[in-house]
Amino acid sequence: MNDAPIGIFDSGLGGLTVASEIVRALPHESILYVGDTARCPYGPRSLDDVREFVLQIGSWLAGKRVKMIVIACNTGTAAGLVAAQRTFDVPVIGVVAPGARAAVQATCNRRVGVIATTGTVESGVYSDAVRALDAGATVFSVAAPKFVDIVEQGLHMGPGTVEEWIADSSDVFVRPAFYEIAREYLDPLKRAGVDTLVLGCTHFPLLAPAIGQVMGRKVRLISSAQETAREVAGILGARKWLASKDNVPRHHFFTTDDETEFARLGSVVLRKPIKSAEHLPVSELEAMTIPPMRAEVAAPGLEEEGVACN
Ligand code: DGL
Repeated sequence: MNDAPIGIFDSGLGGLTVASEIVRALPHESILYVGDTARCPYGPRSLDDVREFVLQIGSWLAGKRVKMIVIACNTGTAAGLVAAQRTFDVPVIGVVAPGARAAVQATCNRRVGVIATTGTVESGVYSDAVRALDAGATVFSVAAPKFVDIVEQGLHMGPGTVEEWIADSSDVFVRPAFYEIAREYLDPLKRAGVDTLVLGCTHFPLLAPAIGQVMGRKVRLISSAQETAREVAGILGARKWLASKDNVPRHHFFTTDDETEFARLGSVVLRKPIKSAEHLPVSELEAMTIPPMRAEVAAPGLEEEGVACN
């Protein structure tokens, strides 16, 4: 048993779609969430910059003694998962492998579409992850950065949910713009004949009903949130690190931007009230001492220290 919190982070609010599934699947676990809203979006930034942000936030979470770190951001996963796994002692997972696994399981014609940020698409991380599981699958990736803006705009327009604002009955300005933009991004994927579409950005599940409407009922939409929650449960279960059944879970939320706004908008995404959030200055993250990265050992010999497992 281990009642320490699970550390979860994203560039902002989108990762709360993952946090929401983790809280639902593991109701005894406490979470410590960081939304780097002041530096959002990560999507258009260089992968080197995003990797640095991942290591800063990971170091901050490690300092809070989390038992596991979840990079609930596809762009962060693409840029920094490997570096984070080599840096921190606790298990670190991202959202790309769980999403790719769910897509490979769902597809019948082995034609998989991915919509994500520019950073994620350019990294090729989804094509690699899908093909590592099914070398015969074809992956069609489209960068859909304006969907991030639509979610952010929609959330700031409250009250109500993003789904309500882009629903047919809504006359808010997001709606016509959304369908025009959605067709531009999604029509090439429809023409490519994908039967499965990965929502490769943690903001996108908030647009799922509308994206599904454009893609048609026959296309399966994959959000990695549920699959990631399953992976968290699997890793903690295997280590016997799940929280005890009598643990009273405590959730703490930190944002690098305005804490009142984060709590208000975050409650919509989490689908649970966030009573308060705390401010975490970017300067504190930038001042973090990042632990040295473990050297890459391609094929350790048996005599190598640390290989024996007692
Ligand atoms: N939530 C981020 C992701 O999953 C995208 C938003 C951003 O560009 O920061 O990639």
